[in-house]
Amino acid sequence: MRSFLSYLIPLLFLVFDVFASDYHEQLNLKPLPQSSLLASFNFRSNTTLTQFAAHNFRYFPRSLGQILQHVGTRELHLRFSLGRWDAESWGARPWDGTKEGGTGVELWAWLEADTEEEADHKWLTLTNALSGLFCASLNFIDETRTTRPVMSFRPEGDHGPAIDRMHLLHGVLPHEIVCTENLTPFLKLLPCKGKAGISSLLDGHKLFDATWQSMAIDIRPLCPPGQECVLQIEQTIDMVLDIERSKRPRAGEEWSLDQLFGKYLKGTCPLTDPDVPPVCIQVPERRDIFSTGGAVEIKNPNGLSRCYQISPERDFSMILPRMPRDGDNPKTTADEHVQPGTPLLYAERSFTGHGQERGGVQSILTNPSPDTEVEFVYMESLPWFMRVYLHTLKARVEGTSGAKDDLIEEIYYRPALDRARGTQLELRMRVPPASTVFLTYDFEKSVLRYTEYPPDANRGFDVAASIITILPSTSPNAPPTLQKTSNLRTTSLLLSLPTPDFSMPYNVIIFTSTAIALAFGGLYNILVRRFVGADEGPEEVGGLRGKIALLVAKLKSVTKGKVD
Ligand SMILES: *[C@@H]1O[C@H](CO)[C@@H](O)[C@H](O)[C@H]1NC(C)=O
Repeated sequence: MRSFLSYLIPLLFLVFDVFASDYHEQLNLKPLPQSSLLASFNFRSNTTLTQFAAHNFRYFPRSLGQILQHVGTRELHLRFSLGRWDAESWGARPWDGTKEGGTGVELWAWLEADTEEEADHKWLTLTNALSGLFCASLNFIDETRTTRPVMSFRPEGDHGPAIDRMHLLHGVLPHEIVCTENLTPFLKLLPCKGKAGISSLLDGHKLFDATWQSMAIDIRPLCPPGQECVLQIEQTIDMVLDIERSKRPRAGEEWSLDQLFGKYLKGTCPLTDPDVPPVCIQVPERRDIFSTGGAVEIKNPNGLSRCYQISPERDFSMILPRMPRDGDNPKTTADEHVQPGTPLLYAERSFTGHGQERGGVQSILTNPSPDTEVEFVYMESLPWFMRVYLHTLKARVEGTSGAKDDLIEEIYYRPALDRARGTQLELRMRVPPASTVFLTYDFEKSVLRYTEYPPDANRGFDVAASIITILPSTSPNAPPTLQKTSNLRTTSLLLSLPTPDFSMPYNVIIFTSTAIALAFGGLYNILVRRFVGADEGPEEVGGLRGKIALLVAKLKSVTKGKVD
């Protein structure tokens, strides 16, 4: 036995070495202004399509692989998000917003099918299966919450001729609250399952205490030229931690990784590519960082970031001391952290109007760039009980470049059907440099049937975030961030509908019960009670003694009767 194992173990390592470059994981830390810290976890693996078809899943999670094969999914994107990205303080979004979802759960997938009905059927199977896998209410993505976006999404993978048979379906659950029970299945999909490597830092208490967080799963086929096609699965977790809150009760001048996450990083995942450093941090070169023993620091030549190769078996943590502060020479923020990049577009959306019958929506889209125009697709998928008046759709521009009439270039509108499908609105539009566009439209609120109200009807109904897809610029001298597609999403909205007074039946029951009790009591008294004069009543017997005498007399008469 012993000799057999001694052969097997080196063999196993050999196998890992061969496949090692097909999986990698990396944690990127980025201190942000106002004592916030962005932590981005990224896990990525490749499995060749021939292996996948032969059910040899390797790094690909088997549970997910079987679902995808069963419903013919070509590409899948799943998002769980919570909170709001504060673009004014934190700047541009991580991954250009492409790994972010609207508040709640968002899912979109390209399914292979010959007809729309077949695609709908497969979508239903997919949402139900994923719902069980991720402990989320994805099965509530029914036809009223499903759309088929026309302009907003493009496949990321290489699909070849299969692209003609692919159907894109998209669904959102803005009401879903992302929580620990969604994190556990997410970690189970990783090759090291949260036991080693950077995923050992992840813990529900810290993740869901974050100011903003987003978990993403992307599955896409990739065909690099001259190589075999692979199926790539990428899992990402981005979170913004409030440093002051996370390290309580040990408040101090500095922060360390184990304080923020509540534990140490437990070595490296043995399956990860050893050439990719597992931890990186973006801070200016002048700041000191102390790390635990066994870690090797690799500085990026641009002076803005550094990475750590860590020892496979030892726990890892690092400390970022506070910048020395002296009164005469106040430190500049540029020394303290890398300046966040300016977003391409700021977007805000809110309700306008008042009353229970009608309302309006206003989106404010600001292009901060002084010289570059931004072109994008603005997509809304609204619930059916928000009846949009499309003729009220208006775009107004304010800014240096003066009035322009052709802000909206293209409209795709699919009106809602009551209880059958929601409104889908996609607008291709642009914002001139250094200007703000106000996009407004009005809508009417429907009255629901009383069984359609949720138990907490007065809380309001969640309206999904609008999705903004910034299109790559066609001009050759556009800034690098505009050379590729990027995304952003507004926050979700809470719509209050005319709600019947659900306490009314309760009030009615209370009032009728009181009335019946009063009427019955009085009537019963009148029917049963007999009024007699004081001298006509039974002889007055006083005190306890009299009562006992009366009882004894009664008993006597009873026993006498029995004897007789
Ligand atoms: C997977 O394949 C893609 C495309 O060839 C490649 O860019 C990537 O480096 C590979 N490995 C991982 C771990 O993603």
